[in-house]
Amino acid sequence: MSEAIVIDTTLSKQEKYAQLLPQAEALIKGEVDAVANAANICAMLKQVFGFFWVGFYFVKKHEGKQQLVLGPFQGPVACTRIELGKGVCGAAWQQKKTIVVPDVNNFDGHIACSSLSRSEIVVPVLKHDVVAVIDIDSEHLNHFDETDKYYLEKISSLYSETFSYAAE
Ligand code: SME
Repeated sequence: MSEAIVIDTTLSKQEKYAQLLPQAEALIKGEVDAVANAANICAMLKQVFGFFWVGFYFVKKHEGKQQLVLGPFQGPVACTRIELGKGVCGAAWQQKKTIVVPDVNNFDGHIACSSLSRSEIVVPVLKHDVVAVIDIDSEHLNHFDETDKYYLEKISSLYSETFSYAAE
């Protein structure tokens, strides 16, 4: 299998995602390791869209309660643990749905890992329940829309099919 992701940079965002999807599937298909696949998805999204920050948080048990714990990512260092319902990530986990935040300053409880982040999308990874979230930050306001939501949910779903890690 070729590991290179090849996307025509002149394409629209929608066209890039459409080209990316089968390549993402080829990249993670056949690999069951959740960290390895998450790492490659981050690299792929960073390469194609140049997002400021893209990463995974995994639902893990710590001292008797579940938290989101930082997983593979691309971008500046980030906070390592997020409680259920806290920040955009904790809200997407709690509500089991994608949250698009056009302006992080208008999201009550937003966790600012970097002051440069202006807008954000968080997509849950569902395997019966939420097992992880994919978090993407942009330095631009209003960066994410229905196209991002649609395709990132597809990528989340592909990832979920390969996901074998059991949140404890
Ligand atoms: N902003 C997120 C925290 C994670 S960082 O953006 C990487 C939130 O509010 O949940």
